[in-house]
Amino acid sequence: METNRILCLGKLCVDIIAECEDFPQEDSDQRCKRQRWQRGGNANNTSTVLSILGAPVEYLGTIANSHELGFLRDDYQRAGIIIDNCVIVDNCSCPVSLVLLSSVSGSRTIIHDSGSLPELTHKDFQVDLGSYAWVHFEGRPSAAEQVKMLRDIDNHNADLEENDRITTSVELEKNRPVLAQLIDKADYVFISKDYAKAHGFYSKEDAVEGFVDKVREGATVICAWGEDGACAKPKGEPTISVPAISPGTIIDTLGAGDTFNAAMIHALCKGAVLQSALTFACKVAGEKCGMKGFSGLR
Ligand code: ADP
Ligand code: FRU
Repeated sequence: METNRILCLGKLCVDIIAECEDFPQEDSDQRCKRQRWQRGGNANNTSTVLSILGAPVEYLGTIANSHELGFLRDDYQRAGIIIDNCVIVDNCSCPVSLVLLSSVSGSRTIIHDSGSLPELTHKDFQVDLGSYAWVHFEGRPSAAEQVKMLRDIDNHNADLEENDRITTSVELEKNRPVLAQLIDKADYVFISKDYAKAHGFYSKEDAVEGFVDKVREGATVICAWGEDGACAKPKGEPTISVPAISPGTIIDTLGAGDTFNAAMIHALCKGAVLQSALTFACKVAGEKCGMKGFSGLR
């Protein structure tokens, strides 16, 4: 039986990406260079990059039984990502993002419609925990349900030797008050720049130092900060900061944070120390910013 799989829970959506020369003017009518569909959503993107990096990976979430389902299923299969435990939901619409990528700046502007797809509940969390080495949660509005899932994992771990335990991580990205209940429930806590700023922290170091008191014993806070790199602080230990690694030209920053999270999880899962994991994650996320999509990372 496989025991080293990484499970990612959180958002899956379709990203409809328009590659534009520049950010468009309001009420203009223009041609883009290209338009494409891509599987999107933070947890889903993290699963994509983990798979490219060579990890055995599973995505778990709800998926709408809508016209997008065929695209999503085929694309997961091509990527080698397991979705066997996903819940297919009838009579609802699929979350979709319209994404404008500007070639001039590499910026990504996201207009998201979360559709009418319900979030995964604790009742849906019917997995064989023995299959996983790491479970990563993108904090969702259904955080209270995710807390129950994390409790199941803690209970599962309680009877195991340290080496056999599942490591957990949570991502606090959007400024949603409900996410606060996740901060002391996992081994690694990813704080986004937006979440940090919404809580009054204006540098990655201030962010990890500000949040570390809230995480549980033995846990680590990690914060990525765009072109300023990233840092991490294990509770009770010094902060480790690393610079960003520029790809030269910024082409597409969509999912840079999700890529960073994937590379961190991959490196830590392989036993890397925090400093090396941060450096690796900045290298992979930097490379991602220099290419369209994720597939060039292989
Ligand atoms: P997002 O906005 O997708 O949440 P961030 O802006 O926090 O992501 O960036 C995540 C990581 O991606 C950073 O820690 C860095 O390693 C890399 N990154 C992002 N922007 C750049 C950039 N302009 N140059 C180099 N690396 C970058
Ligand atoms: C990138 C992303 C996109 C998605 C949006 C949802 O981090 O996950 O793929 O459209 O954010 O907020």
